[in-house]
Amino acid sequence: MADNQNRDQWGSKIGLILAMAGNAVGLGNFWRFPYIAATNGGGAFMIPYFFALIVIGLPTMLIEWSIGRYGGAHGHGTVGPMVYIQAKKAISPKKAIILGSACGAIGFGVTILVNSYYTHIIGWSLGYAVHSLLGSYVGVDSGAFFVSYVTDPKMLVFWVISLAFLGWAVMKGVSEGIEAWAKVMMPTIYVFGIILAIRAVTLGAPVNPDWSSLSGLNFVWNPDLSKLTSASVVTATGQIFFTLSLGMGIICNYASYLQPDEDIVTASVATVALNEFAEVILAGTSVIPISYAFLGPEGIKGSIGLAFMALPNVFTTMAGGRIFGAVWFFLLFFAGFTSAIAMYNYLVALLEEEMGIDRKKGAVMIFILYLIVGAPIAAEGVVTGEANLIYFTEVDNWIGNYLLIVLGLLEVITVAWLVKDEGLEEMNKGGLWKVPKWFYRVFPQFLTPVCIIVFLAIFTRDYWVAGNFKLVPSYLAGIEYMAPWAIAGRCVVIAVLVIGFIQTYKAIKRKYKDEIDSNQAKA
Ligand code: ALA
Repeated sequence: MADNQNRDQWGSKIGLILAMAGNAVGLGNFWRFPYIAATNGGGAFMIPYFFALIVIGLPTMLIEWSIGRYGGAHGHGTVGPMVYIQAKKAISPKKAIILGSACGAIGFGVTILVNSYYTHIIGWSLGYAVHSLLGSYVGVDSGAFFVSYVTDPKMLVFWVISLAFLGWAVMKGVSEGIEAWAKVMMPTIYVFGIILAIRAVTLGAPVNPDWSSLSGLNFVWNPDLSKLTSASVVTATGQIFFTLSLGMGIICNYASYLQPDEDIVTASVATVALNEFAEVILAGTSVIPISYAFLGPEGIKGSIGLAFMALPNVFTTMAGGRIFGAVWFFLLFFAGFTSAIAMYNYLVALLEEEMGIDRKKGAVMIFILYLIVGAPIAAEGVVTGEANLIYFTEVDNWIGNYLLIVLGLLEVITVAWLVKDEGLEEMNKGGLWKVPKWFYRVFPQFLTPVCIIVFLAIFTRDYWVAGNFKLVPSYLAGIEYMAPWAIAGRCVVIAVLVIGFIQTYKAIKRKYKDEIDSNQAKA
């Protein structure tokens, strides 16, 4: 039975595609991808990256769109109940509610905790855009500037402004808020990316004749297979999940605002294509060559450092650097904004649907929630006077990396292994193109879940070997005094997941009480 009479819907096809692309295109494309590719062997990384894109990314994207559209037609905007109504087609409601609640717990955890640090990075981007225009970091050591930035409580104003802007946009609703901003910000991101890419390929070799920007391109496109490791394969899978916003619940949420017969095959392929264009073509042709030209093959391997320490150094020495610096940081801000808004909206939808709280009030409540959950990230810098970001790292290691893959796997198993061919029919409903049966058999039903399981096993082993499971994680060697921040991060992750599980369980039970009590699914 359709139960979506009061749900907001996308205003136009182009708006929907831009909003979905905005959901996917984010900090992951312009900040995470370049340093991950650089640290994992450049060109060698691109092999597992494209493998994961085709074998895992695209099939999981199709599944999330179909779960979301079906869920929306039944009045759901969050992933827990969406998975429940899929799973109960094949397993008993009492089992389906456990599966749904596990998925809901991860969606809840991701949208609260990934955004707890993601919104800070957006705030830093806005702050750095302003500092670029003012020339504040010119002539200053960029590492010291970053430390002074994250330890200065006054700079938190950029974070609060970003949160307020997000809240205001979400308050306006799906078509008038999210979609309207995506229509402005997405084309701007592409234009800014093209400006930077043109600047990058025309840079020459300003510092060292061996470090021309074109050798930077060669570094990404010329694979040296000796650099391929199991770690790079797993990292590539994690990057595909993060960059496509998979395993977060937010693609499902956006798809819940579709018309019941909207073509999701074409639209999900378009989302993947727009995301990859931004990531591989624009970030690959701008950030990597610019950094390479000024910093060389070793200098581009810093994590947060690449965007906020290495690149400011580059901009200070480059002609027109203040303007290019502002272009870069505004690009990061817009990219981050259009993804953070999806996480924000997920929680507002949850309040709307589960507690009947209206969108305006919900947006204010989530604004306050983000101030609370973002406080430890702010506090760590201000209290310790250092920029180690250990709390952030620990939360990201578990929620922003590991659990995305777990949620993706649960969704794929639910649709492809439990619901089986009905899942394919749902995917193809209204489609201009249809997903062929052979594709469904080879990818969602076989290679996709099997590869995710194998990668997850390697990922778990690598985390174990790297000492991520220890009470004081090994990456704290030399800074063991920061352990309380890592432990606090873990405790918060566990607490949020437990609350998310209970909340989802209760929400599903409230709506489907009769069939769960009798353990007999209704149609
Ligand atoms: N997909 C978003 C990003 O790449 C979360 O940043």
